[in-house]
Amino acid sequence: MSNIVECRSLGFNYGKGNSKTSVLKNLNFQIKSNEKIAIIGQSGCGKSTLLNLLAGLDIPSEGEVLVDNTNISTLPEHKRTELRARNLGFVYQFHHLLKDFSSIYNTALPLLISGVDTNQAMTKAQEILKKVGLENRTNHKPSELSGGERQRVAIARAMITEPACLMADEPTGNLDATNAREVLDLIIELNKNRDTALLIVTHDLSIANKMERKFDLTNGFLVEK
Ligand SMILES: Nc1ncnc2c1ncn2[C@@H]1O[C@H](COP(=O)(O)OP(=O)(O)OP(=O)(O)O)[C@@H](O)[C@H]1O
Ligand SMILES: [Mg+2]
Repeated sequence: MSNIVECRSLGFNYGKGNSKTSVLKNLNFQIKSNEKIAIIGQSGCGKSTLLNLLAGLDIPSEGEVLVDNTNISTLPEHKRTELRARNLGFVYQFHHLLKDFSSIYNTALPLLISGVDTNQAMTKAQEILKKVGLENRTNHKPSELSGGERQRVAIARAMITEPACLMADEPTGNLDATNAREVLDLIIELNKNRDTALLIVTHDLSIANKMERKFDLTNGFLVEK
């Protein structure tokens, strides 16, 4: 199976000189198509930093990140954006939806940005909102949705481009237990049906236990459990 994402000797430091903080040290791992992976670690251990590096939003201090076998850090900004958009979908702890736009627009946005025809993008957004159980909420703005519903729109937006790998940063961190379970089950189900890989970073063991492979991120080092 091919690697969708690969880290080679990846290291990352914030700051320089005396204020240098080494957050990630010599990380080596691959995500292959279809894999379900959890990275577990306490607050401040570098989970979000790692996802930013995998997305090409930060540049490694050492080593490299390959997305679809291409070193994402050496690409110019527009190529990096393109590689990210073609291969990866993101769900964050806070939904990051655009507040003035309806669910359907928020969902369709990645397609509209990549130049897909408006009607086609809207039809696809409608379909995927139905899959996440929000067919009756397509015209609601984020402020008119519950926390769990907002997170479901965020999942729909991340999945609409059919990414090879979905990356989620504490996707249920702001939800109550019932909603958290529903949102997680939804991510796993969409994933199974679409054959995409899944990377969830979390401090929650009950989430991690639903994944096939588990890694601990402690003191900057990543160790498979
Ligand atoms: N811009 C920055 N400058 C300096 N240090 C930073 C910066 N951003 C994050 N850090 C530090 O890097 C470490 C890792 O932060 P990160 O946000 O990746 O942690 P996390 O594992 O995602 O935590 P949480 O579970 O709380 O979201 C933390 O100790 C944080 O204080
Ligand atoms: Mg974080």
